[in-house]
Amino acid sequence: VGRVLVIGGSNTDLVCRAPRMPMPGETLNGTTFAIYPGGKGANQAVAASRAGADVVFGGAVGDDDFGRQRLSDLRADGVDTRLAREQSQCSSGVALIIVDDRGENQIVVIPGANERIDAGFVDDVIDQSNAEILLAVVEIPVDVLGHAILRSAGRHRVILNVAPFDARVRAFIPQIDVLVCNESEASGLLGRSVSFDSALRDVEALRQLACGTAIITLGEHGACVADAGGSWVEPAPTVKVVDTTGAGDTFCGVLAAWLSNGASMRDAVRAGVVAGSLAVTRAGAQPAIPRRAEILAAMAAGSSL
Ligand code: RIB
Repeated sequence: VGRVLVIGGSNTDLVCRAPRMPMPGETLNGTTFAIYPGGKGANQAVAASRAGADVVFGGAVGDDDFGRQRLSDLRADGVDTRLAREQSQCSSGVALIIVDDRGENQIVVIPGANERIDAGFVDDVIDQSNAEILLAVVEIPVDVLGHAILRSAGRHRVILNVAPFDARVRAFIPQIDVLVCNESEASGLLGRSVSFDSALRDVEALRQLACGTAIITLGEHGACVADAGGSWVEPAPTVKVVDTTGAGDTFCGVLAAWLSNGASMRDAVRAGVVAGSLAVTRAGAQPAIPRRAEILAAMAAGSSL
């Protein structure tokens, strides 16, 4: 079994559903409220673990009930949290999320302990994790993320998910093996608008920024990929969308798990797209992430789930 180190944020997601997003200054009645485990790093760790990898979480929580609960959830999912930090005198990351009737979301994140991760911490987790793959995501300080990527270069295969977008990651792209972003993050990196119609050209332009493989996730259209062998689109199965929160994280975690277990890029992207499609059919970030058996069954079932 391949071993994946995930460096990224952990949050508690406070989620309300509403028929639509409120306008500025407007008060709107929603329909339901729920608390879910989330955070892009923790979501990706859970996705990789459920997909069959051996996963170490390199992130931080605060010294509060939310933080203790988040680490315990990760452990229940088989994720190794022994290197994670419980930061004293600090709150845990929280995300306030509104999901509308189309399943689209708006998110405000209060980073808390995620913002306190420093270079010494990532040095320790990289040195002690014994992983083949580093999966890194931008919900921690960007300079620390860059430090982690530089320290991992040549030791780990490095996958970077540029979410949420931060232009400073451009500096690290030449050290990255696999770059994953969605259309708006790709637009930010390329400085022009990116859409499904232009995605094959755009993904090749991203690869020209000097990473080994570039991937743009395209929601209901799947993902497009450029690597040394060329570029292609991996289409997504048709599904009924309930909640898109965490779909990109599911893609990244499953991609890393498949690659860590020796899959080709084509198979790993296919598994990630199918897993992301399954995740949008259910509510919440971590509760919606599928397990390996479900992903394999859906891959065998084909274009409509
Ligand atoms: O990518 C989804 C995640 O973004 C949520 O779980 C939330 O915590 C925010 O970080």
